[in-house]
Amino acid sequence: MTRLSGITPSGHVQLGNYLGAVRRWAAEREPEDLFFVSDLHAMTTPNRPQRLRALTREQFAVLLAAGIDPDSVFVQSDLAGELGALNWILECTCSFGEAARMVEFKERGAGQDGSRVGLLTYPVLMAADILLQGASQVPVGSDQDQHVELARTLARRFNSHYGQVFVVPEAVVPKTAARVRDLADPGRKMEKSSPQSPGVVFVLDEPDVIRRKFRRAVTDGLDRIRYDPDDQPGVANLLEILAACTGTSPYTAAGSTSTYAELKDVVAETVIEELRPLRRRTLELLDDPAELDRIRSHGAKRATERAQPRLQAAFHVTGLR
Ligand code: TYM
Repeated sequence: MTRLSGITPSGHVQLGNYLGAVRRWAAEREPEDLFFVSDLHAMTTPNRPQRLRALTREQFAVLLAAGIDPDSVFVQSDLAGELGALNWILECTCSFGEAARMVEFKERGAGQDGSRVGLLTYPVLMAADILLQGASQVPVGSDQDQHVELARTLARRFNSHYGQVFVVPEAVVPKTAARVRDLADPGRKMEKSSPQSPGVVFVLDEPDVIRRKFRRAVTDGLDRIRYDPDDQPGVANLLEILAACTGTSPYTAAGSTSTYAELKDVVAETVIEELRPLRRRTLELLDDPAELDRIRSHGAKRATERAQPRLQAAFHVTGLR
């Protein structure tokens, strides 16, 4: 079984990325695993080169600090040649309608003349990431489910049209924290690209900043602690975060405190303790750029070697070589 997943350096890693994805990547180590920083994906929206480079390095360090095996990590653009080639083949396997139906495109780019074509085709590049490495499982938060479904569709279509080349992947979504919500606006998911939002907890935030963000978390006027995501999304979010950090269910977590203020304090302290070693280790790694570069080159070599035979097979069956 090969598990593969990625994280985009469009901002600092936030709590949803960690609880919904990165922490699980590290928890169930498999020798064939591959996890990467998807810097090519960060180009779908405007960015500054220096910031992109710094965020890529930071995210790479977070993956390692979380406990992912150094043999399993790489940076997407180190495989830009192989991915670019397969991306084109898959763009020619995907219909315009399929790409335009992706929720993320509909929310961010549809109907806007100036939005980048990459925003439309980005799920196809994601399919290239997955299919190039022959991944069978893709551990993601629920927001990426639809994109993995597209990768499944493209793998099946390609295989039936040209011949068996690709493994058909499946998304693996966690039971708790599959969609951590913004603390200030529980109607939205927590997102790293909303840096101004007081409701986004970044994994490298100082403990006092985390305390402040939780203290200001939006709840409701019902004054009861119950896990009810429809009627009490703010409280449900706090309970999900607590449950994910303590390994219980949000229903059980609901019994641990009696007031909203107490709940917020307990969640804040639990999150601070959960993130403390991650933060320390990330900062240590960022202090050793030579070691990060060494791990990055090794990962690039391994991922490229794994990608080559499948790419050659795709060229062959399509009549390109
Ligand atoms: P990205 O960087 O938006 O998110 C990285 C991972 O974090 C999960 N996630 C969340 N989980 C729970 N609650 C949230 N609020 C939350 N926000 C994000 C995401 O589901 C994801 O698992 N396109 C991808 C990166 C990517 C990729 C791939 C993933 C590129 N190629 C191939 C899988 C396979 C992205 O931008 O994730």
